[in-house]
Amino acid sequence: MALDSKSSEHSGGDGALVDPIASHPHFHRTESRIAVAGHPIHAMLVAFPIALAMSTLGADALYWWTGDPFWARAALWASGGAFLMGVAAGISGTVELLMVRGIRIRAASWTHFVLAVMLLSILGANWGFRLTGYEQAVLPWGILLSCFAAVFTGMTGWHGGKLVFDYHLGTAPIGKD
Ligand code: HEM
Repeated sequence: MALDSKSSEHSGGDGALVDPIASHPHFHRTESRIAVAGHPIHAMLVAFPIALAMSTLGADALYWWTGDPFWARAALWASGGAFLMGVAAGISGTVELLMVRGIRIRAASWTHFVLAVMLLSILGANWGFRLTGYEQAVLPWGILLSCFAAVFTGMTGWHGGKLVFDYHLGTAPIGKD
């Protein structure tokens, strides 16, 4: 596999940087197994929690600005969708992580898992809190939870993209194992 400067993170014996994936050629099989005709289901699902978590923050901000209860109700639905679709994405990602040796052997996959589970707990708290009264939940705690969720969504999504675009996880049916 070709090396590039972005994915060169470990130092070899001669001081040269060695790609963490290329340094373990036995684990090069990192294809997706939870997939439809080779298209990873996790990658298809993650768009929903990402978009809905950001939409929750947008709806909260619009409720704060306009005072229109419509936006508080929109935030309730968006936060519920973000959590439930996030759990669905998390299940597909976890099964993939556990089933594909070349994915579960990489430390970066587990970093993504830990970030994602923290994100799911924030998304769950954000939705559950609103179920107790969606309008009064927005200010201040709802919108603060939405800000927190947006930051964690960014970190989790960015790191997931790194797994695919830098480390080629879930993509490459090459190698021996
Ligand atoms: C909870 C457990 C999760 C695990 C174990 C997990 C695992 C993975 C794995 C193994 C990949 C590499 C591609 C693949 O094999 O499909 C990946 C990619 C990705 N993950 Fe997760 N993930 C989890 C949750 C999430 C959540 C909640 C999000 C939402 C922010 C997310 C966002 C992403 C993104 C954006 C990618 C890159 C997809 C692409 O561009 O193809 N993951 N994840």
